[in-house]
Amino acid sequence: MQVIKTIADFRELRRQLSRSVGLVPTMGYLHEGHLVLVKRARTENSTVVVSIFVNPTQFAPSEDFSTYPRDMGRDLKLLEREKTDIVFAPSCEEMYPSEYSSWVDVERVTERLEGAHRQGHFRGVATVVAKLFNIVQPTRAYFGQKDAQQAVVIKRMVTDLNMNLEIVAVPTVRESDGLAMSSRNIYLNPEERQAAAVLFKALSLAKQLWQDREKDADTIRHQMTSLIRKEPLAQIDYVSIADTETLEELKLIDHPALASLAIKIGKTRLIDNILLE
Ligand code: PAJ
Repeated sequence: MQVIKTIADFRELRRQLSRSVGLVPTMGYLHEGHLVLVKRARTENSTVVVSIFVNPTQFAPSEDFSTYPRDMGRDLKLLEREKTDIVFAPSCEEMYPSEYSSWVDVERVTERLEGAHRQGHFRGVATVVAKLFNIVQPTRAYFGQKDAQQAVVIKRMVTDLNMNLEIVAVPTVRESDGLAMSSRNIYLNPEERQAAAVLFKALSLAKQLWQDREKDADTIRHQMTSLIRKEPLAQIDYVSIADTETLEELKLIDHPALASLAIKIGKTRLIDNILLE
């Protein structure tokens, strides 16, 4: 496994690769959710590249960029075990030198859900992912369904800007009580960790109601909301039943839908989703 820190060194190495390249973009502090993406990339590509970069431009000033968990030593051991070929781990100065001025703005699908609650977040995500695609030139890139809106935004960008690669979305990996694995779960104290199970409980309720042929989105949203309100440590940012492609809120669920939510547990903001299809 090679660890590359500069764009110039990566380009040099990339010239020597003639067959398929799979890219897994991450911000590090890896868990099984990330490693499932790496495993999938391993089965589908000759070369597997994992990027580790805590991207400052996708964090608002009030958010957790400076305290976001980091452990490069541990990450490298985990990636070595998954037979990763190349780790690309640039510095902030390498990705955003002082004269940096260009941004990728994906409209419409970024206006809702996370985009409505995190100003500028998807501009930062789309920009860094476009840069990573240009540097790595992957055949395929792997994203988790955990961040469903992010996967929609990246697919939109790839289609709109005619980027020559395939985007693969991978199902969410969960803890035994259903909590989606996330680097931010480390912020939860034991009491909050227990309370955090309410996210998956609410999503499971949505799925159950939908399987029982409930088609009215408001009914499902209300039931999810009242279940979450019973958890004293939980504070709702949003509860949504939306179209899987446009992310517009639905009234009637008559085609595939995405049930998603953002909940604060204490100071920690968690997101999760489930497909109704
Ligand atoms: P990060 O939060 O580190 O996540 C990296 C990738 O792992 C994303 O595609 C995310 O959806 C996926 N992932 C995280 N938890 C998962 C889980 N429990 N199950 C399945 N997949 C999971 O998402 C980012 O980083 C950044 O925004 C990035 C795309 C790297 C751009 O900076």
